[in-house]
Amino acid sequence: MKIITIRVPTKVTFFGEHGVVYGTHAIASTIPVYIDISGKLNKDSYNIVLNIKHGLQLTINNFLISKKNINEVKVEVEPEHVKKILNYVLTAISICEEVLDVNKSRYGYIITIDSPLPIGVGLGTSASVSVGISSLCLLLNDYIKNIEDHKYDIAKLAWSVEKSVQGSASPMDTYTISLGGLRYIDPLTLDAYTIETDYDMPIIIGYTNKTSSTTELIQKVRKIKEKNNRIFNSILSVIENIVNEAKEAFIKKDVESLGMLMNINHGLLRSLGVVDNRHDMLIHILREAGALGAKTSGAGGGGAFIALAPSKEIQERLIILLESLGAKIVSRSLYPNGVTFLKND
Ligand code: PMV
Repeated sequence: MKIITIRVPTKVTFFGEHGVVYGTHAIASTIPVYIDISGKLNKDSYNIVLNIKHGLQLTINNFLISKKNINEVKVEVEPEHVKKILNYVLTAISICEEVLDVNKSRYGYIITIDSPLPIGVGLGTSASVSVGISSLCLLLNDYIKNIEDHKYDIAKLAWSVEKSVQGSASPMDTYTISLGGLRYIDPLTLDAYTIETDYDMPIIIGYTNKTSSTTELIQKVRKIKEKNNRIFNSILSVIENIVNEAKEAFIKKDVESLGMLMNINHGLLRSLGVVDNRHDMLIHILREAGALGAKTSGAGGGGAFIALAPSKEIQERLIILLESLGAKIVSRSLYPNGVTFLKND
């Protein structure tokens, strides 16, 4: 039985998170931090056998789920982040099989997920799992022969997984992760244009502990919209302007402008109530210490941040500072690719 291994990058949101849920553009990029997913069909049983490795730790070994229960994805396991991964895995297999009617013989699967990051830190980990499992399901069942020619289909499938698990999700994460590189996302037309820029600019991407779930944070923002739609729409139009200015600044490699736009975008996220205080303090310390710009990235409530330094030297200094404050650094550069086929054993 063939074993397929897929490499899925994670991602950072540069500009436009939350607004993108309501139709404004966003800019996000894949980063060189990967989740590797390998799997094979299980012809001896209808069950799904799952192994989850997190860093060097084996969190779950031979976890068995009957495919009869595939639609009851409320699996009760601890710890919480493993339960979250299971929900994305099962929903992705269910949607892949039901919607596309693949795997008519109803074989099971044996799957291993190897992730260096905990799920839900705001670096698109849940979208990476959705993209990876969707790709794996389509490949193992011979619905597609390669990933390269089907990235938009994979992105669309993975987006429906995100919407099903979370209730609400924009296409930003799944399209960026599937297609790869720095992308200007239009959530209404589903266009995701590549922005040509310097992939080696001195950025820092990291995270701190996250205090709320993406679903809770999206609901928090929705409450502001319901309470005062006019003000909310004004904020949305500033976010849209920031994203469009940032697109031009990336093309011109104008890092000063990018830094300023990151700072303004952070202020707007704060006004929407999704920046936690510890994160806000960290962002301000970074700016004081020489960052051109710094912002919360993704849904907020702690979690991911991104900073831009004026030089590689200051980038190094800021990284030391961040680590001394307890933040975890995951990347110093962007990544030009999306989901890729790694090997066939
Ligand atoms: O925290 P992340 O990486 O899952 O990003 C969420 C971004 C939001 O705009 C808040 C939600 C979305 O679906 O786009």
